[in-house]
Amino acid sequence: MKLDFPRYTERLGAVSIHAVQRIYELDSGKSKGFLTSHQTIKKFDYDEISNLLHDMAIVIPLKEERLKLLEGVLSGIPNECLVIIVSNSPRSPVDRYAMEVETVRLLGRFMDKRIVMIHQRDSAVGSILKKLKYNSILDSTGHVRAGKAEGMVLGLLIAKMYHKDYVGFIDADNYVPGAVNEYVKIFAAGFGMASSPYCNVRISWVFKPKVRNNSLQFSKWGRVSETTNKYLNSLLSSVTGFETDIIKTGNSGEHALSMPLADCLHYSSGYSIEPYEFVDVFEKFGGILPSKYPNVVEKGVEVFQIETRNPHFHEDKGKMHLNHMLEGSLAIIAASSICPSDLKRALRDQISQITGVKKQKKLDHRTRYPLIAPISTVPIAEFAKEVRENAETFYRLGGLK
Ligand code: GDD
Repeated sequence: MKLDFPRYTERLGAVSIHAVQRIYELDSGKSKGFLTSHQTIKKFDYDEISNLLHDMAIVIPLKEERLKLLEGVLSGIPNECLVIIVSNSPRSPVDRYAMEVETVRLLGRFMDKRIVMIHQRDSAVGSILKKLKYNSILDSTGHVRAGKAEGMVLGLLIAKMYHKDYVGFIDADNYVPGAVNEYVKIFAAGFGMASSPYCNVRISWVFKPKVRNNSLQFSKWGRVSETTNKYLNSLLSSVTGFETDIIKTGNSGEHALSMPLADCLHYSSGYSIEPYEFVDVFEKFGGILPSKYPNVVEKGVEVFQIETRNPHFHEDKGKMHLNHMLEGSLAIIAASSICPSDLKRALRDQISQITGVKKQKKLDHRTRYPLIAPISTVPIAEFAKEVRENAETFYRLGGLK
């Protein structure tokens, strides 16, 4: 793969946010060198990418998706990666999870991949996490809460139990296996470029095509990402004093975290997880509030945003769904202790427009979008032992223990 070095970087305390980088060649061949001398382009050969992928897990959050799409997504993930599927599909009246397991089991024979599956609402998983005092992910019945973020965090814990250094997230509803393959290699390239162990790689889609008037429109931004990016950039500008539009990936569902960074983040529930990663990183390492993580501050946190060559085709889930996602994204920015009052007001106005609910004086965002504690608080060896022994839906393929 050949891509440019970041051309521009915004800094906030210990956080470096790199501007969007372009890919010049998806596959730049096996040899390490360049034909001509290059100082602006970074090249990764097969072996470099492959070595990084060996240390990577790909988590697929899954809820009632078409099995054909899941199959395509699995076929796009390079064989070196550990695949972790965390499902929240219904178990009754039809057991969708059993269907997913059966599909993956049959495919596994041909793919020869290392795959782990688990159901998010497995009661044993809830009990284990309760015993280990990881209560922030549980609902009042003692199960892991429903929600995409909750599934992703469970995926992080499983990646950690398999000692992975990097974790990438890929949605299960992607129509293009080649795009999935590109995302995973982009994750590897981002980690390969990082100079800090605390690193976040975010996908910026070149296009998210939509069908309008019976023809394909290659739009770049959806309303949700455009609005979220605008407010995240305003948050950043309010602290630095300089206007910026550097953030282009506020809602990027396809993104990856190095395990050392994943270990110290809080996670916001549901679909607010992706924008909250920015907010949390600013709060913890941006130099505005005192940091409890001097090691991280010393090494710095890097955020890469890398633009794909493949367009992103995925299931369209309708306007209500998008409004819900946007509301969550804006709410968690408004709830931040570093968000200035004029920006909070603007966010409240915007949320009222989306929800149709008149402005509330004090919006209780944290009740609606509770935070999940850092995964470093879970004793991982004990978690691994308990899950292996007791989780009824824990399913492994490819000779995994
Ligand atoms: N485990 C689990 N639990 N998975 C879930 C849950 C849940 O409760 N809810 C949804 N998922 C899975 C879906 O099956 C899919 O694979 C993935 O999470 C994304 O959910 P979608 O509902 O398809 O989201 P989207 O496609 O509208 O939005 C995606 O892209 C946005 C950026 O455009 C998501 O990744 C968003 O988080 C992202 O901001």
